[in-house]
Order: sequence, then structure tokens, then C-alpha cells
Amino acid sequence: MRKVRVAIFGVGAVGSLIAKFLLEKEGVEIIGAIDIAKDKVGKDLGEVLGINKKVGVKVSDDVDAVLSKTKPDIAIHATSSFLKDTHQQLASLIKHGVKVISTCEELSNPYYTEPKIAKELDALAKKHGATVLGTGINPGFLMDTLVITLTAVCQKIEKIEAVRVMNAATRRLPFQKKIGAGLTVEEFQKKIESRQITGHVGLEQSIAMIADALAWKLDKIIAEPVEPVIAKKPVESEYIKIKAGQAAGLKQKAKGIMENKEVITLDFQAYIGAEEEYDAITIHGIPTVKQKIQPCVHGDIGTVAMIVNAIPKVIKAPPGLLTMKDLPVPSAAVEDMRKYVSL
Ligand SMILES: NC(=O)c1ccc[n+]([C@@H]2O[C@H](COP(=O)([O-])OP(=O)(O)OC[C@H]3O[C@@H](n4cnc5c(N)ncnc54)[C@H](OP(=O)(O)O)[C@@H]3O)[C@@H](O)[C@H]2O)c1
Repeated sequence: MRKVRVAIFGVGAVGSLIAKFLLEKEGVEIIGAIDIAKDKVGKDLGEVLGINKKVGVKVSDDVDAVLSKTKPDIAIHATSSFLKDTHQQLASLIKHGVKVISTCEELSNPYYTEPKIAKELDALAKKHGATVLGTGINPGFLMDTLVITLTAVCQKIEKIEAVRVMNAATRRLPFQKKIGAGLTVEEFQKKIESRQITGHVGLEQSIAMIADALAWKLDKIIAEPVEPVIAKKPVESEYIKIKAGQAAGLKQKAKGIMENKEVITLDFQAYIGAEEEYDAITIHGIPTVKQKIQPCVHGDIGTVAMIVNAIPKVIKAPPGLLTMKDLPVPSAAVEDMRKYVSL
């Protein structure tokens, strides 16, 4: 049996972590790498990853050339959170009949938020025999797939709540900047208005996925404004010192409303100094189900795992734009990848 042939589209922070993990993994090979960043194009992938070893794959900005030459089984796409940026990139992969797993948050379930793009990508994928999946740790698992799985033991459900609290002190500096840690409240608000801080992307998609799984017809999904979490006392991470009164990070909520009742609530908080880190789900129903993961699942490790573990399931899935709820029960592909999929 031959190895699974993978192309990496987007060799940024997350694409690099995925590439490094794939290079260590049995039964897969990276045969192409695509990125537009000037400091990466033309370089060996090993140099871009900073691993002191040549991979024998040059980073290219020419998608068509890479795909025509290398014919990957699957492309791992990690460039942006927003479909307005990524749908053309995804289409350029789909047109080659390549299956795609993407970290694009809005792709995780775009049928509610971007129905036109979702239908176009789905039709294109079916036409070219490609399967497309948006996934990751969140959206992709903690606040949607895991919630849906827990509902399986319920006879009745009144309300679902999921909370993710992360202590950003343990994360990279770019993440701390992304959540506005160290800004004054005024600077934070300005960056929110100019969209330099977007907060977590994916809460609406996660709510839509849960509702779809339960066949709940929501009246609306409300995404509340992203708010700063203000430090009550000085807190610090390895990189940033925060004074009392400054933003230590952010919090945001989204709600699914059905028949004037809030039936799904997702609550995301990421800030330096969070005393308890956890992922908690409560399903109020018969029976009521309460689940708590402590500490919360590490975002980068979990994302890399979700993407790589999805490879065999996506290769075996039918063509079209799928969501996590359309695939078999998620599980780890810890052995040689060829034990999970034969090509
Ligand atoms: N679902 C989840 O749980 C999850 C988890 C983690 C991350 N994500 C998302 O995954 C995305 C990638 O994250 P990241 O931290 O790796 O971002 P990043 O560090 O900015 O990397 C993105 C890379 O893609 C390149 N790129 C941008 N547009 C491109 C194009 N048209 N063609 C080829 N390459 C292109 C960028 O080049 P330039 O630098 O030149 O623009 C950069 O090298 C983000 O949107 C992030 O929010 C999702």
C-alpha cells in the first residue's frame, strides 16, 4: 500500500505545526507546499519549518502547478478564518479533484452563515469528486462535535450550554496579541472596530451545526459583541505585563434562539490570568448531562490532531462540502496512516 500524499496550502503557524507532525508520521508523505509569503516561496519546506533538514519539497505560490505535478490525495488548507478570503483558494484545490481539510473557521458549517458560498463549494466539490471539510479544535470539536455526541444519551433537551475558558498566559505571543492582552480598554475597542481584533471566529457556525444535528429550526443566532476581560490586579505572562484596568484578553457569547427561548449558548473566554482553564458542556434535559475537561484542551495540539486524524475519514467520505457531523465518530489515527485508509 502506498503512503497518503498530502499537500500543505498555507505554511503559517498552524500549517507548519501540521507539516511537522506529518513529517514524523508513518504512512503519509508531504508532496507539495503552497504559500504566498515572499519569505517562504522558493525555499525548501524544511527551511521554512526551521527543522534543519531538507524535505525535498519547495514552497510554491502556484497552486495549479503544484497540484498538476504532484497529484495529492488530500490538501491541508490553513490560511484564513474567513470564507471571503478562502473560498477562491478552496475552489482552486477542488477543481483539481483534490480532497480538502481546512482550518478555516467559517468553513466548519457555512450553510447557515454563508449559504451561497456553501452551496457553490458543495456543487463544485460534487462535480469534481472532491470532499471538503472545515475542522479544528474549535470550531470542529469542543463546542460542536463533542456537544452533538453528548446529546446522544438524551431523550429530551431543553437547553445546551458550552463554555471554554483559556488562560492565555500559556499561549504564544501572537495569540496573546490576537486577544488584545495588554491593551487599554480604549485601544481594545478601537482594534475591535477596525477588525484588527476579531475575537474567536466560529461560534455561530458551531451553534448552527448543533441545531442542524438536532433538527432544531432556530429563529436566529445572536453573536454578542466581543468584550475585553479587564484585569482586576496586575497579571503577567512570559511576554506581557498587564496593569490592573487593562485588557487581559477577551470574552464573547453567541446564542441560538428558538421559539423566543435561548436554547444554545456558547461562551468563549481567553485571557491572561484565568485561574481555571476548562471546557464545560451542560445539556439540560432528560437526563441532564454535565461534562468538564480540565485543563481545557490545548488549542494548537488539538487542532493539529483534529486535522491529521480527519485524513482517513475525509478520503473515504463521499464528495461534497461536509461538516463534522456528517463524518463517522471522530477518533485518533495514532498508528501508520495506512492502517486506516488503503490507497
Ligand atoms: N478551527 C480551528 O480550531 C482553528 C485552529 C487554529 C487555527 N485556525 C485558523 O487557521 C488559520 C491559519 O492559522 P495560522 O495561525 O497558521 O495563520 P498564519 O500564521 O497567518 O498563516 C497563514 C499562512 O497562509 C498564507 N496565505 C495567506 N493567503 C494565502 C493564499 N492565498 N495562498 C497561499 N497562502 C496564503 C500566509 O501568507 P502571508 O503571511 O503572506 O499572508 C501565511 O503564511 C487562521 O485563520 C486560524 O484562525 C483554526
